[in-house]
Amino acid sequence: MYFYRILLLTAFFMVQSNLQSQVQLDANATNESLYRPNFHFTPKKGWMNDPNGMIFLNGQYHLFYQHYPDATVWGPMHWGQATSKDLVQWDHQPIALYPDSIGMIFSGSAVLDKNNTSGLGRNGVAPLVAIFTQHFMPGEKAGRTDFQNQSIAYSLDQGKTWTKYAGNPVLKTPNLKDFRDPKVIWHGPTQKWIMSLAVANHIEFYSSPNLINWTKESEMGKDLFAHGGVWECPDLLSFDVNGKTVWVLLVSMNPGGPNSGSATQYMVGDFDGHVFKPFTTDIKWMDYGPDNYAGVSFSNLGDRKVLIGWMSNWNYANLVPTEKWRSAMTVPRELSLVKQDTDANANINSSQNQNNFLLVSRPVKELEAHFTKMLSKKNMVAEKEFTLMGAGKILPNRIDLDIVKATDFDIVFSNAFNEKLIIGYDAAKKQFFIDRRNAGVSNFHQGFAAMPTAPRFVADAEMDLSVLIDKTSVELFADGGRTVMTALFFPTHPFTNCSLQSKEGISVKTMNLFLFK
Ligand code: FRU
Repeated sequence: MYFYRILLLTAFFMVQSNLQSQVQLDANATNESLYRPNFHFTPKKGWMNDPNGMIFLNGQYHLFYQHYPDATVWGPMHWGQATSKDLVQWDHQPIALYPDSIGMIFSGSAVLDKNNTSGLGRNGVAPLVAIFTQHFMPGEKAGRTDFQNQSIAYSLDQGKTWTKYAGNPVLKTPNLKDFRDPKVIWHGPTQKWIMSLAVANHIEFYSSPNLINWTKESEMGKDLFAHGGVWECPDLLSFDVNGKTVWVLLVSMNPGGPNSGSATQYMVGDFDGHVFKPFTTDIKWMDYGPDNYAGVSFSNLGDRKVLIGWMSNWNYANLVPTEKWRSAMTVPRELSLVKQDTDANANINSSQNQNNFLLVSRPVKELEAHFTKMLSKKNMVAEKEFTLMGAGKILPNRIDLDIVKATDFDIVFSNAFNEKLIIGYDAAKKQFFIDRRNAGVSNFHQGFAAMPTAPRFVADAEMDLSVLIDKTSVELFADGGRTVMTALFFPTHPFTNCSLQSKEGISVKTMNLFLFK
């Protein structure tokens, strides 16, 4: 499959250089200044996809990522690395893991082996252990089925340098082509490490006392949930809901997402260290936008569940019109679980199961300190076109709205070149939408100029929204994060106007506009 990805890429690449030459970008702006985001992580140069091995250690967040430093298209995968003290400002670090004779370094996770169960620690230093897939490209090209295996590497200096384990791979494929993306957690009740692994159309769970010897426990999902594409990048998370442990399994899938291409679904249920039992078989998406994929959570962060996703889509990730680098990450998001409001389920074909939960995502609180308020309004009615910012003013990076009654509205970002991005709500359909059909460059991929939609999950009339905008991305968190949408867009010139529009007139309780400092 990856071999074909490379073939396709070569073809895309040729078409793309053709397309790019047709795009007239702002003459005064460089591609860097127009498209490099301010508060979303991007690699310095080259290609990036999935976040990997995210872990919190001694006050520092470590982000590893799928990286090809030598080109802006997918290629031989390394683990790039960055560190941050606050999840917002990241320092680039040297590449952590390079491909070797076993294969490229595909997605995976990292854990702190506090009790040195692996025996890889030295002189009382607990090892940091990375668990990842190695993809052996010559094996795939030769039509073999044994080219994806799981390996480990360890660091005794807080992730600065890594040593690959001499006995790699530690978990060999039973001759299954898609056998990848290990996400490992410590399971207290059984005192074992648990690995969730994506295996084509299902997830397999493995256990280990020491991160080296793995035993298969069970598999889940062959005939359940969404199957429009191959399952990838699982993450098994536990939440405390009123003293009871509830488990969530994230599964990314490509293609087959609700708005085309890549997307992440989730299942809520029970996990006993052996088997995952979902409470319901409803199909639920963590983010309904087209551009949040392969998201997983940080390890070693106590009760906090913080997720970062890759802010792109395999449909066009290799084609987006950035020059020095390709792809950004989503803002880090705090995850929580809430009971689903049963009155509001027109949008979900739900059994009347009282164990029906919704996964909620909100931007992490650390972002707050980086925003300054530009404008604050209370109790206003916006009709037709209400200009929020325009005429030479800097546009906000964040718009928070508390609306008295869920009415049709559009938040419109536009420029003098007839380009506009609309983030809105359709009350009749009970749907949020992001309209990027005329938001700038889109000819790099046929399906890019689209209007993705997302259901609303609450029955209340009142609605709250937080919209984050950062040059080429919009992230919508509605109803306290119950509906989330992430989408990319590429204006040829920066947007210069921002307005709130509503045919009926919209009653706003509070509105706050913020700038990222
Ligand atoms: C998901 C994915 C993973 C794989 C990696 C390769 O985007 O396809 O399944 O490990 O990317 O870069």
